[in-house]
Amino acid sequence: MSGKIKLINENGLRVDGRRPNELRPIKMEVGILSNADGSAYIEQGKSKILAAVYGPREVHPRHLALPDRALLRCRYHMAPFSVEERKSPAPSRREIELSKVIREALEPAIFLEKFPRTSIDVFIEVLQADGGTRCAGVTVASLALADAGIPMRDMVVACAAGKVDGVIVLDLNDLEDKEGEADIPVAYMPNLGLISLLQMDGILTIEEFNQALNLAIEGCKQIYRLQKEALKAKYVAIKEEVEETCLQ
Ligand code: CDP
Repeated sequence: MSGKIKLINENGLRVDGRRPNELRPIKMEVGILSNADGSAYIEQGKSKILAAVYGPREVHPRHLALPDRALLRCRYHMAPFSVEERKSPAPSRREIELSKVIREALEPAIFLEKFPRTSIDVFIEVLQADGGTRCAGVTVASLALADAGIPMRDMVVACAAGKVDGVIVLDLNDLEDKEGEADIPVAYMPNLGLISLLQMDGILTIEEFNQALNLAIEGCKQIYRLQKEALKAKYVAIKEEVEETCLQ
């Protein structure tokens, strides 16, 4: 976070032409892997992430099974080709940390108590990383859980806000994350109004923090609408397919 590169131009626009409160273009698709119980894909700017869900299913190894609820396991993994400098396929400390924070962000939304002695396994594969992958990972994992038919209290959606060149901005890309002053990733359950992930990297005043938090929540609400559209699109496609088959 050196702050040496100019991240906001004289017109108040960011390095990729966005206004401070603007999200990157987002594309989501549900149900794209036939061998997983649920799956989803997200593109948020240049970040591209796939999520697959298995379960509820028998726990292996068995001694990990919980008597009163399902065991939620999450693996966040970056493909070696996902970043500029080849990443070792072995799990890094960062990936272990992100797997944990993503699991904790998803956990409060899932009715785990409905499936005692089972496991729900979530795999998040980052195919291309350009900042904000933990947040996009939460958003896409939540979609894959819904696609697997796992009952949830709400969808979880995540988005970061931060500060670059002294300006509070939404949904930082890789350059803004690295060269900016601060970054706060937030996971939010819009219907419940609950935050399930809040981290902070860098320094903000209390006022800036509140502004960034509110902006991140606004971003989450916008992404939530896209999440719902992506889920509906899958069922519209299935309905059309069934209708076509019936007409034949
Ligand atoms: O992706 P997120 O912002 O949640 O996590 P981060 O640890 O703040 O990483 C920010 C960005 O750094 C990632 O999205 C990648 O674009 C980049 N990165 C990288 O280039 N090489 C790595 N081994 C890890 C991250």
